[in-house]
Amino acid sequence: MEVAKRNILVVDDEEPIRKVLKTHLTKAGYSVVQSSGGKGIFEVLEDTQFELLICDIKMPEVDGVDILRYTKEHLDTPVIMLTGLTDTAVAVDVMKKGAFDYVMKPVKKEDLLGTIQKALDYRDLLLRNRQLELENMEYQRSLEAKVEERTGELRLKAKELESAYGAMKSMSIQFVNVLAETIEAKDHYTRGHCNRMRYLCVELGRLAGLGAEQLELLEYASLLHDLGKVSVNELILNKQGPLTESECARVRKHPVIAEKILVDIPLMGGVASIVVAHHENFDGSGYPRGLSGIDIPVEARIIAVADLYDAMSSDRPYRDGLAREVVLEEMERVAGTQLDPGLVRLFIDNKIYSFVKN
Ligand SMILES: [Fe+2]
Repeated sequence: MEVAKRNILVVDDEEPIRKVLKTHLTKAGYSVVQSSGGKGIFEVLEDTQFELLICDIKMPEVDGVDILRYTKEHLDTPVIMLTGLTDTAVAVDVMKKGAFDYVMKPVKKEDLLGTIQKALDYRDLLLRNRQLELENMEYQRSLEAKVEERTGELRLKAKELESAYGAMKSMSIQFVNVLAETIEAKDHYTRGHCNRMRYLCVELGRLAGLGAEQLELLEYASLLHDLGKVSVNELILNKQGPLTESECARVRKHPVIAEKILVDIPLMGGVASIVVAHHENFDGSGYPRGLSGIDIPVEARIIAVADLYDAMSSDRPYRDGLAREVVLEEMERVAGTQLDPGLVRLFIDNKIYSFVKN
C-alpha cells in the first residue's frame, strides 16, 4: 500500500544516521527534511510545519530533550526520540516528558516505520478531535446566536401583541362607554352614573384586593350593569311617581336581559355573570336568583354598593339627590341585608365617594 507523502523532520548530529534514515523514509514515501540540530533548529521548527519529528537525544549544541520540550510547548507535532542502547533511562525520561515513542539505535527499518505510522495516526486523531471540538464550539455558538435571535424576535412580537392588546382594550372600553352612555340617554336622570360607577367600583375593587383580571371584568361590568334597560320602555324609566306591579316586574328583568345580550359575546361571559347578579342582596332577598353572601360574585357585590351610593346621591324623577351623610347612614343600615357589610365598611372608611361628584 502506498504511503501518503507526509513531511518528516529528522534531527541528528551524525550525518550517516541522517542519511540512512532519509533513504528509508523516502523509499517508504515520506518527504524528509534533515537537520544536524544546533540553535538554528528552533527556527526550522517555527518556519515549517512538520507532521512528525524524529530527534536524537544526545547532541552537542542543543540537547534533544530541549527540542522535545520546545515542540511540546509550541506545536502539535509528535516526536519520536532516537536513543542509544546505553540511554534507556533517558528514553524513559523523554517518554515522561511527552515524546510519542523512542527508537533504539541502530535503527531497525521495520520498527521505525511502524512507530512512524502510529505517530502519524495519533496526530491525525488529535487534529480530527480538535477539529470536531472546534466544529462543536462553532455549532454551539451558532445555536446560541439562533436562540438569541429567536428570543429577540419573540420579545418584539410580545411587545407588538402587548401594544395591540392595549389598543384593543382601550378601543373596546371606549365602545362599552358609548354603549353605557346610550343606555343613560334613555334615562335622563342617570346622566354620568355609569362613569361614576366605573370609578367607584374599580377603587373599591382595588381596596378589596381584586387582581388585575378581576378588576378588568369589574370595569366592564360597572359600565354595562344596566345594559338590560335597553329593553325597558323610556316612559317607565322616566316615570314620575311609583311604578305599577307590572312595570316593576319589567324593570326587574334588566339584569337577566343584560346577561342574555352579553353571554355569547367573546370574552364577555365573565362580565355577564357579574352583571346578572348586581341586584342580588347579601341576605338572599334580591333578584333574579336570590343568591346570598359569597355566592354572589364579589364584583357584583361591589357594583351593588356603588350603585346604591350613586342612585341615592343623584337626582331622580321623583326626588332630588340625598345628602351624603343620609346616604352613608342608609348604606350602614342595609349593610348585612342588602349590601355586603365588609365592602360597605371599606367604602365608607376609605371615603371612596369623595372623588366623585353627583
Ligand atoms: Fe341595575
